[in-house]
Amino acid sequence: MFITLEGIEGSGKTTQVAHIVHFMEQNKIDCVVTREPGGTLIGEKIRTILLDPENRDLDSVSELLLYAADRAQHVKTKVLPLLLSGKTVICDRFFDATIAYQGFARGLDMELINRLNKIVLDDLRPDMTILFDLPASTGLERAWKQLNVGARVSNESRFEKETLEFHEKVRAGYLELADREPDRFKIVDASMDEMQVKGKIFEILSQHLENKPSIQDAD
Ligand code: TMP
Repeated sequence: MFITLEGIEGSGKTTQVAHIVHFMEQNKIDCVVTREPGGTLIGEKIRTILLDPENRDLDSVSELLLYAADRAQHVKTKVLPLLLSGKTVICDRFFDATIAYQGFARGLDMELINRLNKIVLDDLRPDMTILFDLPASTGLERAWKQLNVGARVSNESRFEKETLEFHEKVRAGYLELADREPDRFKIVDASMDEMQVKGKIFEILSQHLENKPSIQDAD
């Protein structure tokens, strides 16, 4: 089973990962948590370049290709082998983030993005994508609070420095993707508090396991 988590900055998805792992343990599902950008040794190096706020001059196409390089490494050396060995993989961001950020928000050619994703992913698709949705202003406010109290490292703040308008486009992009694939996407209202969001996610995961017991067995 392959589950991806998506949302704008400050949507709380990283906080919820620990709860999701707990849910998996309770249900005796062997899972591994990973993330993009990052997730592999080489990917973590690419992450440093991508999120460094000093890299203001990073060209948009270079940015897109770095995300694609990170994903190629991640999929081939980690995600696919884990899935093939029967593990459940929980991934904090995946290819939808490229469509939302580089496509909808930066305005790069969607055809190019789709072609790159096709090369990198082959036929790999998440079984389920949880979209943590909230107004961009609330998300950005939360993200800056985390940066200011040191809960998030400031050398990863390149995207927090983008305008509110940019983050509104990311949010709208995600919602459009969810609209196109309602079976894969589960939208969670991320403006609720941590425990309410956790409850909603547990509900979604329980329902998913009930509906697809064969996935659990086949894993
Ligand atoms: P995060 O892992 O802390 O959420 O930060 C990753 C940042 O990278 C976040 O601002 C979203 C951005 N991103 C893209 O722009 N494109 C992508 O394909 C991915 C995976 C992330």
